[in-house]
Amino acid sequence: MSSKRQILVTNALPYANAALHLGHVLEYTQTDVWVRFQRMRGHECYYLSADDAHGTAIMLKADEKGVTAEQHIADMRAIHEADFKDFLISVDNYHTTHSEENRAFSELIYNRLNKNGHIAKRDITQAFDPEKNLFLADRYIKGTCPTCKTEDQYGDNCEACGATYASTDLINPVSAISGATPIEKESTHYFFKLPEFTEFLKDWTRSGAVQPEVANKLGEWLDSGLQEWDISRDAPYFGFEIPNAPGKYFYVWLDAPIGYMASFKNLCDREGIDFDHYWNKDSKTELYHFIGKDIVNFHALFWPAMLKSAKFRTPTKICVHGFVTVNGKKMSKSRGTFINARCYLDHLNPEYLRYYYASKLSGSVEDIDLNLEDFQQKVNSDLVGKVVNIASRCAKFIANGNEGVLSANIEDPALWTQVSGAANRIAEYYESRDYSKAIREIMAQADAANEYIAAKEPWKLNKIEGKQQEVQDICSLGINLFRVLLTYLKPVLPSMAVASEEFLNDSLNWDSVQQPLTEHRINTFKPLMQRIEKDSIDAMVAASKEEAAKVSTANIEGPLAEDPIADEISFDDFIKTDLRVALIIKANHVEGAEKLLQLTLDIGGETRNVFSGIKASYKPEDLEGRLTVMVANLAPRKMRFGMSEGMVLAAGDKKGIYLLEPDSGAQPGQRVT
Ligand code: MSP
Ligand code: ZN
Repeated sequence: MSSKRQILVTNALPYANAALHLGHVLEYTQTDVWVRFQRMRGHECYYLSADDAHGTAIMLKADEKGVTAEQHIADMRAIHEADFKDFLISVDNYHTTHSEENRAFSELIYNRLNKNGHIAKRDITQAFDPEKNLFLADRYIKGTCPTCKTEDQYGDNCEACGATYASTDLINPVSAISGATPIEKESTHYFFKLPEFTEFLKDWTRSGAVQPEVANKLGEWLDSGLQEWDISRDAPYFGFEIPNAPGKYFYVWLDAPIGYMASFKNLCDREGIDFDHYWNKDSKTELYHFIGKDIVNFHALFWPAMLKSAKFRTPTKICVHGFVTVNGKKMSKSRGTFINARCYLDHLNPEYLRYYYASKLSGSVEDIDLNLEDFQQKVNSDLVGKVVNIASRCAKFIANGNEGVLSANIEDPALWTQVSGAANRIAEYYESRDYSKAIREIMAQADAANEYIAAKEPWKLNKIEGKQQEVQDICSLGINLFRVLLTYLKPVLPSMAVASEEFLNDSLNWDSVQQPLTEHRINTFKPLMQRIEKDSIDAMVAASKEEAAKVSTANIEGPLAEDPIADEISFDDFIKTDLRVALIIKANHVEGAEKLLQLTLDIGGETRNVFSGIKASYKPEDLEGRLTVMVANLAPRKMRFGMSEGMVLAAGDKKGIYLLEPDSGAQPGQRVT
């Protein structure tokens, strides 16, 4: 193998103001597959991530929740880290941009830019909210479109007619935060002199650091002339104060990419790694940033220019991906296709989605469609129908025929050479992030393996006297082919690979694949993956719709603001809901579920199993023996953890969950109206 590479890899740091959704999961899957592949090839590869914790949006979100910004970002970080873990994203360090390391690097880099004459300072006029005492970015101003006169449009463009304008052009503008009429106010801002880097960036963006289509887009921007970049924001702002500029803060996008360095520094300090070896301006190590197409300018213009001025190394590659659509359309809350990472995990196995995304990712900037029907069909037919099937068909003959020991012979050397010989081709596809080609190649080899077994029919031979050795040879080759396929799939399916290693009694490495297992004892075969049921997908979409309905943008105070009264229904509609008094006879934690408890309910002679999202507020042991109310005629829903047969009633929102309880004396099974 070629010499050992030293690689740093990052994904775009998710904002600490929202949960992760399946769009984020695309990026983190793309990154993780690449990282796992590099590690399998024997390279040293550190994968760094963090929460992007600064900015106005995060400050306002904390206000809205009534907690400090620090508390809010700590809560979000825990949620994001759990999502990363459960989607099997193998980060080496998950940090936050609100850290001492990041403050130090942000100050250092800013001071160097300043010393090099790359910072300008001047007064600008901006919209200001006189009630909140806050400067207003365009997205925090609303008003009537000057072109088509549609009301309630944002300060930069109209969703009705598509016009773009300055927020000062809006008719009757109001602050989206307080409702006050904005005034114009002057203040001093700090700018990064980006235009001075035009020539450097023209070379850099054409050096292979970005995909050709991205270089073209950047070329257009570079040709039409770069602007100085406003890197400061006035207090109140959640972020780092600019050195020698009291009341002025770094704009979130100034310190966000520096967060990549800060996360690495944090890892270096913990593990004794030499930071400078990776970041000095002549470093021979590699630096890869995986990002979405919406944040290219920050990563391929501002960031390399900042690094250049501050005398750090620049990125080796910016790997840009497109956006996830669901069933051919933009993810939509009302259609239930805006699916949060956690909601997916509550219903489905993460490896299904990792596989599906890998099968669609091509290393281009094109959008990726998650078609839910195709998703189910492809995972079931490729992984369960093709790959797992090879092992399950062969394992029992080896177990019964030869006590689990594989033959000494390779029954069909040409087939073995063909399948094991695909390794280099597949490696090249992974390296260039063309995972869809890698998957297509792996599935073509799986087809060859299945055709071989189908043609040889070991189940028939096994009934013929004297053919037993042949059966052992055929099935041993089948197992060996399965081993090769799982090695190829290991970057995409890390859990299934671990289960297969257990079954094969062998560890799956890229190089050892070339050597078949002969006279080697394997372990008992256990099912490696279940089929996706349509019910689980439907339940996930229904749950997403429900979640979305709870989030509202109303501007009034109190619970009704968050969750307005639903559309009117008739009494006949209401009475369709069969509510019953239920006795909680058992309550348990659910392994792997963050919000759910499993309840066993007695509704008078009938017991029900219900998964309920009340874990945040209740300990299981405090629930046992309590009465509550359940919807007894709700269609059962298949969750990842089992079937949920109804729903218990609880009042709740972000602030707390309160289980409903009838007055004492009520009997389990009594109807509630
Ligand atoms: N905080 C910034 C990134 C700072 S990096 C120094 C940010 N955060 S984000 O949470 O909005 O997005 C994180 C990543 O997810 C971005 O790369 C973004 O492109 C990606 N995606 C967000 N929605 C997406 C889809 N619907 N589909 C695919 N990726 C998407 O931007
Ligand atoms: Zn308009």
